Amino acid sequence: MLNKVNLQVADAQFKEEGVALFLCKECPKFLDRKIFSDEAMFMLDGYLAKEEEFYKPGKMGILTYREGEGVKQMLVLGCGEGKECSPRNFRNGAANAIRKLKELKVQGVKVMAPIIAKPDKGHYLEALAQGFFLGAYTFDKYQEKKDEVADINVAFVTKVEDAAEVLVKAEKLEAGVCLARDLINEPGNVVYPEVLAECAKKIAQDGNLEIEILDEKKLQEKNMLSILAVGQGSAHKPRMIVLKYNGAGQEPYTAYVGKGITFDSGGISIKPTEGMGEMKDDMSGAADVLAAIRVVADLKLKVNLMAVLACAENMPGGNAQRPGDIVRAANGKTIEVITTDAEGRMVLADAVWYACRLGAKRVVDIATLTGAAIIALGNDVAAIIANDDALAQDIVKAGKLVGESYWQLPSFKEYKELIKSQVADLKNSGGRAAGTITGGLFIGEFIDKGVQWAHLDIGGTASVTKAGDCKSYGGTAFGVATLVKLAEL
Ligand code: BES
Ligand code: MN
Ligand code: ZN
Repeated sequence: MLNKVNLQVADAQFKEEGVALFLCKECPKFLDRKIFSDEAMFMLDGYLAKEEEFYKPGKMGILTYREGEGVKQMLVLGCGEGKECSPRNFRNGAANAIRKLKELKVQGVKVMAPIIAKPDKGHYLEALAQGFFLGAYTFDKYQEKKDEVADINVAFVTKVEDAAEVLVKAEKLEAGVCLARDLINEPGNVVYPEVLAECAKKIAQDGNLEIEILDEKKLQEKNMLSILAVGQGSAHKPRMIVLKYNGAGQEPYTAYVGKGITFDSGGISIKPTEGMGEMKDDMSGAADVLAAIRVVADLKLKVNLMAVLACAENMPGGNAQRPGDIVRAANGKTIEVITTDAEGRMVLADAVWYACRLGAKRVVDIATLTGAAIIALGNDVAAIIANDDALAQDIVKAGKLVGESYWQLPSFKEYKELIKSQVADLKNSGGRAAGTITGGLFIGEFIDKGVQWAHLDIGGTASVTKAGDCKSYGGTAFGVATLVKLAEL
């Protein structure tokens, strides 16, 4: 759960037990020495003289000193050198700082950084604020022993214009990110399609969003047999959930479409035991688009946005789909099921088609679609497959601004040959070669002509097994910040 983190602009009343100081290589000479006590300055000068690499990203100095009656802590966070000193380093530094402050049981912390003493550096202040929220996040609701620090009060010494607004905006974004992380970290026995539907309903009510929930019956009526096929082996039936935010009158809608497999056992093509439990995160895309639309509504952005969550549980069972089955998706195309473990593209086929029916002119789908994404790009970079290079590049740009990395893979026609079937229009697996690309191109087959589309494969970035920087153990909610920024561009 999220520790309550209160952010404010520092004022004379603020009482701190600690200081977090963010420095890049060039920063020390711009430090306003007047704001430090003699004791603090003495310790800091000593540290900077001794630690040549104080400015390296990830470096943290912990200084303890006496001031007045009490003992105080100062954390010195390295933020890079020259061009490398980006908001991303400040965001990560802030996340690492608050983790340490929790450990040291410091409840009031003053934040200083020469860069936020400049009025036009709001994006650095924003990054710092985001990092404080992200670093404070933990998922401990099922543990008896919880974090003991209840509230952490953080005050920024800053001259950034509209600083208070910047802080509020950061809080709104990260509340969304933490909501998505909670949903992702919940196990499959707690969060299944119906539960996501209930959660979406509550968000829609609170945020005054339009909502439509398609249950099995309605999915049947609309011929969405592809998502139904994926869910037919599970006791928990599929749901397609649509939320709409209208912030721009008659303008066309953008659709964010998320893969919502609440647990992916592989189905009859069952996965190996090792690591299978991690597949509770296979609904990360759905959690991300739900969080993104909540934040966009919360920020009252002037856009029209819909979120489509394609939710099902992929289980083996007497009624489960089989390899070899041929399924007709809602757009009329037939799919040969090569493996029941390529289920994400099958639920998304009907979801992106439905987004087009609802009038979306731009579709961005996000999915933990392939393990091949890890092989191609590792665990820090998500893949993009698109029918529109400008949209793909907008996503890369949005990602850069929020500290999430993307790389566009080619979508040459030749790759489409790999997913042609001998017995149906398409097959759901093209084999190992170019697995991330063929997975994306499969989904593209269900997009209307003339609609801009990009697919984000977060198979490598959705979860981590080690907390560090802005990430906590488990779900990262990678993509939420990008999708919100994309709506703002
Ligand atoms: N959810 C998985 C993809 C995945 C696996 C993401 C491991 C992250 C880590 C997806 O449903 C899946 O099983 N994909 C298959 C596709 C293949 C059978 C064509 C895969 O990647 O092996
Ligand atoms: Mn699968
Ligand atoms: Zn999956």
